[in-house]
Amino acid sequence: MDSLLITGGTPLNGTVKVSGAKNAALPILLGAILFDKKVIFENVPHLRDIHTTKNLLETLGFETNFENGCMEVCQKNTISSEAPYDLVKTMRASVLCLGPLLARLGEANVAMPGGCAIGTRPVDLHLSALEKMGAKFSLDNGYIKGRCQKLHGAHIQFDFPTVGGTENIMMAASLADGETILENAAREPEIVDLANFLNSCGAKISGAGESQIKIQGVTRLEQKNPYKIMPDRIEAGTYLIAAAMTNGEVRVKDCPYHDMEALFDKLRACNVILEIEGDSVIAKKHQELNAVDIRTLPHPGFPTDMQAQFMAMLSICKGSGIVEETIFENRFMHVPELKRMGADIRVTGNSAMVRGIPSLTGAPVMASDLRAGAALVLAGLCAEGETRVDRIYHVDRGYEGMELKLQSLGAKIKRIKGE
Ligand code: EPZ
Repeated sequence: MDSLLITGGTPLNGTVKVSGAKNAALPILLGAILFDKKVIFENVPHLRDIHTTKNLLETLGFETNFENGCMEVCQKNTISSEAPYDLVKTMRASVLCLGPLLARLGEANVAMPGGCAIGTRPVDLHLSALEKMGAKFSLDNGYIKGRCQKLHGAHIQFDFPTVGGTENIMMAASLADGETILENAAREPEIVDLANFLNSCGAKISGAGESQIKIQGVTRLEQKNPYKIMPDRIEAGTYLIAAAMTNGEVRVKDCPYHDMEALFDKLRACNVILEIEGDSVIAKKHQELNAVDIRTLPHPGFPTDMQAQFMAMLSICKGSGIVEETIFENRFMHVPELKRMGADIRVTGNSAMVRGIPSLTGAPVMASDLRAGAALVLAGLCAEGETRVDRIYHVDRGYEGMELKLQSLGAKIKRIKGE
């Protein structure tokens, strides 16, 4: 398993370009299951999770070709309905093939995704919504087995605005009979990107990005032009914080700042200057960083995927800040690792009190999940001395060439190949 070796203390300066959004690409690529002809995607990031999705599509009977950010997906022969455990266990987003398989085949056999480091992450809301559309499910040997004659429209109310649940239903309803209305839908920008892709191929989806989404089923989808994946707002936010923490000045190119208001409000409250220039945002700090409180919420609230990175910054801010995690039940795995670097953090339930200290000190630490790993890299960039972040495969799941992008900004960081 690879590690990243970081010598802290160098201010980051220069320009970094944001890659395509992992959390838009994953549902959109699995949406290719809805098509009986080739679909082409551009700006697809080279990430572990994308390669896992490519493998899953091939396992299901699709031919794929992925180079230079362009992914082609084409049904090769009869589609298999089985998403095997060895793939699903490495990427729970594989459950997003459930809706498309039921819509195309009338059946799906998807391994239960299981929990992960940040929580149990059930899929009960996905299943109950699909049952309202006519699907029947059973659980056999760790597999979700779904069957239906032909999915039909339904009026669905989500107990929680689940991102994956919203995406699964939007895809399933695109080819169902009649109209589906989704209430309390997730409003994340990646939902809008998925709807834009499907609508560009003939789907009839309205209201994406709002709490109510209406989908009028159609008989067939066909792509007219290649679809370009939106830029990654979480990757962008991570590099904005890197600039502030290292006292540098970084231009983040292709930054989807319209989708980042909650994060920008909190960064500015911490004394981070954010200047918008065209499709770029320039981040720098103009005086000492000040601590603020944050509370993660469904979009457009503060994104849970930025919580760990923001906490790393709070650990060197003047004053104290409270971090409240309301989305996942166990998303503080980065806390003990940050404390190894000297951070003063006290966790009570889903809340963490962070008291800023003048500087972190480098140490060997371990990534436990994607965003925790990113937070530890940020901490290493500004810590005194050397930090080694182990199990960096977590970071490789969601950050395209992170060490290369950071090196281009002047960071002293290199990858140590594991055995
Ligand atoms: C998506 O996960 C993202 N992943 C996550 O990003 C992100 O943190 C999350 O949305 C919230 O924004 C992808 O898009 C691939 P949810 P998802 O369904 O769809 C509970 C990253 O770092 N829930 O909105 O799994 C669930 O347990 C990853 O890039 C149910 O109870 O998120 C969780 O507590 C991490 N039952 C909460 O809702 C369900 O049926 C949010 O889950 C579904 C969800």
